[in-house]
Amino acid sequence: MAPTAKFWDRMANRYSKSPVADEVSYQKKLQTTQDHFHPDMEILELGCGTGSTAITHAPFVKHIRAVDISSKMLTIAQDKVDKAGIDNITFEHSTIEDLNVADQSIDVVLAMSVLHLLEDKEAAIAKAHSMLKPGGLFITSTACLAESMGWFKPILAVGKFFGLLPLVKFITVQDLTNSLINAGFQIDHSWQPGKGKSVFIVAKKAG
Ligand SMILES: C[S@@+](CC[C@H](N)C(=O)[O-])C[C@H]1O[C@@H](n2cnc3c(N)ncnc32)[C@H](O)[C@@H]1O
Repeated sequence: MAPTAKFWDRMANRYSKSPVADEVSYQKKLQTTQDHFHPDMEILELGCGTGSTAITHAPFVKHIRAVDISSKMLTIAQDKVDKAGIDNITFEHSTIEDLNVADQSIDVVLAMSVLHLLEDKEAAIAKAHSMLKPGGLFITSTACLAESMGWFKPILAVGKFFGLLPLVKFITVQDLTNSLINAGFQIDHSWQPGKGKSVFIVAKKAG
């Protein structure tokens, strides 16, 4: 099993029980996302974790395909969905890198707290762009640690070496914005709740 999957499998139980770091901002991001939804929409969520975001959004769309590298995360997510009687979320065990999705088949791609964990975020953004229908949206909340947590880089490198911490890329808001624009997106909305907080971006594929 890949080290990334192993790490997130180990984290899954603790992750499912830990509170959201900034609940007020999280709720605002959920609301802004839902403002873009229609009942007939097909959503794809990359790195869905234990499914909390997908579960919140499910009543507002037709279907959510939610993908994660960690089978343990997905087991917890499926259990929550079964208990809640939700029938329009399909969980899928896959890496973002290996995911197979037909071009121009998705209305909204969500990537919450995952882009900074990828070796190649540009490839993931390009893939999302191909999957989206013309006019489709890529919505992401991404930790941009280069601006405030540079000192943490050596600690992360040691932690990653011993398998105690995941791969984390230190990116800036500008870097992420450039990657989205270079992939062909237009930035509709960009909001960073405070210094060092995750940036929330709604990016649109030209229609
Ligand atoms: C910080 S958690 C965020 C989970 C969820 N999106 C949320 O906001 O609570 C990152 C998630 O991304 C998943 N992940 C990391 N790298 C991945 C990859 N290459 N492909 C698919 N999922 C990945 C992890 O398993 C984990 O569930």
